[in-house]
Amino acid sequence: MKFASSALSALSASALLLSGAGAIELNLDDPASIKKAAGVAAAGMRKLYTGDNPGDVPGNLPDPYYWWEAGAMFGAFIDYWYYTGDDQYNNITTQAMQHQIGQYNAFMPSNQSKSLGNDDQAFWGMAAMSAAENKLPDLPTTGDLAGPSWLALAQAVFNTQAGRWNDKTCGGGLNWQIYQFNNGYTYRNTISNGCYFNIAARLYKYTGNDTYSKEAIKTWNWESRIGLFDKDLHFYDGSDEGKNCTEINQIQWTYNLGVHLSGAAAMWNATQDEVWKTRITQMIKTMGDTFFRDDVMYEVACELNGKCNTDQRSFKAYLARWMGYTMLVAPFTKDLMWTKVRTSAAAAAKQCNAGSGSQCGLRWYNNGQNDGSTGVGEQMAAMEIIQNLLITNVSGPVTETKGGTSKSDPSAGGEAENDPIVFSEITTGDKAGAGFLTTVVLIGILAGAWWMVAN
Ligand SMILES: *[C@@H]1O[C@H](CO)[C@@H](O)[C@H](O)[C@H]1NC(C)=O
Ligand SMILES: *[C@@H]1O[C@H](CO)[C@@H](O)[C@H](O)[C@H]1NC(C)=O
Ligand SMILES: *[C@@H]1O[C@H](CO)[C@@H](O)[C@H](O)[C@H]1NC(C)=O
Ligand SMILES: *[C@@H]1O[C@H](CO)[C@@H](O)[C@H](O)[C@H]1NC(C)=O
Ligand SMILES: *[C@@H]1O[C@H](CO)[C@@H](O)[C@H](O)[C@H]1NC(C)=O
Ligand SMILES: *[C@@H]1O[C@H](CO)[C@@H](O)[C@H](O)[C@H]1NC(C)=O
Repeated sequence: MKFASSALSALSASALLLSGAGAIELNLDDPASIKKAAGVAAAGMRKLYTGDNPGDVPGNLPDPYYWWEAGAMFGAFIDYWYYTGDDQYNNITTQAMQHQIGQYNAFMPSNQSKSLGNDDQAFWGMAAMSAAENKLPDLPTTGDLAGPSWLALAQAVFNTQAGRWNDKTCGGGLNWQIYQFNNGYTYRNTISNGCYFNIAARLYKYTGNDTYSKEAIKTWNWESRIGLFDKDLHFYDGSDEGKNCTEINQIQWTYNLGVHLSGAAAMWNATQDEVWKTRITQMIKTMGDTFFRDDVMYEVACELNGKCNTDQRSFKAYLARWMGYTMLVAPFTKDLMWTKVRTSAAAAAKQCNAGSGSQCGLRWYNNGQNDGSTGVGEQMAAMEIIQNLLITNVSGPVTETKGGTSKSDPSAGGEAENDPIVFSEITTGDKAGAGFLTTVVLIGILAGAWWMVAN
């Protein structure tokens, strides 16, 4: 994930407001209407994907979208199929995921290395985890589309990240970037650690192997110790190892809470331990207080002031997705969240009325008017909150012993650990440039933080 300057993102968000034909019609109590509404949002998202065009690269979105958001989008398509039964995007999903596996079978394609974050890799890994949980047919073992099982791909992401646990400073944790020469390597961001927690918890629920639960608990405890979340479970953006993680960047994003909420729900499901139930209940309370107004979800750090960048415009999609997962695996949470899902879905559908059709905007509380911003993130967020209304129609993620078919490979991705990639193209000049850029990025983070708090 990248940091863009506030000014730039404000510019790109101020597209012309085109008053549209019609909103997405949605009857909250009619499964057929919900399915149709999710389908309209999905079709809008699919139109923005070009990777399956001849000569294009499967799995890549065009500019300005980064590689990770494509992984997030295919995760969204997997849930779309699971909730609605509409399989028309399964083939582009399978093709894209297979194409981006990379040489270590762990979603580390070498041509993404120059900016590959643990969070970026994890969004593809979580899509593979969803594929295993929802029983998307595995890749074939032979032919052009051959590849490991979905479960093995999620395990590979877990295994490669487990090897990156860094206790040289900060007492542990994952760095943001995978490779030391990348900008932002020293940052310990909450989303990278939260994704690792999430994958570990879901692998534990799926396989019952307690190696995974130990890693999930270790990560949660480390984040707590450093202060990446506080006692009321407000989740902050991250910290830097330069000061041994003693200072916290306190911006709050929807997806940081969501990734922990669903991981905690998986842990509760697998253990039924009250400690997770208490945390989940508190997270839902903090979620409501922080990210909802009149039960409508919003991105508090940047939505009101119009400063959400391209990445940030997709974050609500993941909180929505993880609320759905949470209600499925920790059913006691449904009463706590259902009104928020319904109210947000209704508000989201109503403002999908830009352009000539039903394009969705960023602000769901905008009086039923698209706010002038459209794109993959906006489509995905609306689609995910709407399709969550169908959770009552599905039975929830499978496990190895209860319905699962994706084959386990506990040592997947292992070859990546002892085989560091050598980048001949990184010259001393590039490194100096990267150091300089890091400084600029960090100043940008601090300035951005101030701006967001001050406005
Ligand atoms: C996916 O299926 C559609 C409809 O059957 C077809 O037109 C398209 O070429 C397929 N795409 C891929 C990537 O297989
Ligand atoms: C990246 O690598 C893949 C192979 O993993 C290749 O097919 C693709 O064309 C490369 N280029 C881009 C821009 O992704
Ligand atoms: C850095 O932080 C860790 C975890 O909080 C702590 O255990 C360690 O002693 C600190 N190191 C220094 C040099 O302060
Ligand atoms: C755990 O999750 C599954 C779905 O994956 C669900 O069917 C089951 O009821 C959940 N267990 C509990 C105790 O709620
Ligand atoms: C969802 O379940 C309801 C009632 O159980 C059923 O009538 C409806 O057809 C289902 N809808 C979908 C989209 O599966
Ligand atoms: C559990 O996972 C660990 C770590 O991947 C692996 O070494 C071990 O073999 C697994 N155990 C089983 C029973 O699969």
